[in-house]
Amino acid sequence: MKLHVDPEKCQGHNRCYSLAPDLFEVDDYGLSTAVDAEVPADQADLARRVVANCPEQAITITEG
Ligand code: F3S
Repeated sequence: MKLHVDPEKCQGHNRCYSLAPDLFEVDDYGLSTAVDAEVPADQADLARRVVANCPEQAITITEG
């Protein structure tokens, strides 16, 4: 599983980083990118919760 943040949709609400600071990085403008690595198995449920909590629906999960 990998996470992706759509830069066109992200508005910098930072709920993602607040919930899962190991899975996201925030730039100087407050916009988020997902860490480019597989989500650890023990954080898979957290990753799904983060996706559901982004008010802009900017985060997607790629399974595989
Ligand atoms: Fe952006 Fe959504 Fe996170 S708007 S900063 S991806 S909570």
